[in-house]
Amino acid sequence: MVAEKSRQVALRLPELQPDFDFIFESAMLHDIGMIHTHAPGIGCTGKEPYIKHGILGRQMLEKEGWPQHALVCERHIGTGLTKEIILRHGLPLPARDMRPQSLEEKIICFADKFYSKNRNYLEKEKSVDQIVHSLKKHGQEVAEQFQIWLREFKEIE
Ligand SMILES: [Fe+2]
Repeated sequence: MVAEKSRQVALRLPELQPDFDFIFESAMLHDIGMIHTHAPGIGCTGKEPYIKHGILGRQMLEKEGWPQHALVCERHIGTGLTKEIILRHGLPLPARDMRPQSLEEKIICFADKFYSKNRNYLEKEKSVDQIVHSLKKHGQEVAEQFQIWLREFKEIE
């Protein structure tokens, strides 16, 4: 669902020449780190906290020799974690900037917010209001970044 949503976003941005193959591949792989997390409700029986699935995915893909795809994993949590957010919330993550940098990283991070891992809602796209509401829990600036992308990525007028 995230790969298809990302493709739809990329199609609206021909002037920026998004890399469609890279977007598809990394959208399909961006949550691979979930396999090592403890989220039994969705079948993940690892030991690590959920929030670490980004950096775990990065490690897995780097090991496989895909450093660019690996960065998509690390940089898709929320609208991208800043060092300041990591420290403020005491997250179990290295304190570094984890915001998406490339166009492709940003598109996947954005598209990802429209979907849940809850097995009852896998194919149900969330509304913009729902997304903004839940991002606000992580900080005003997180929700604001999403709202900037809504316009940049022509999701809304
Ligand atoms: Fe994720």
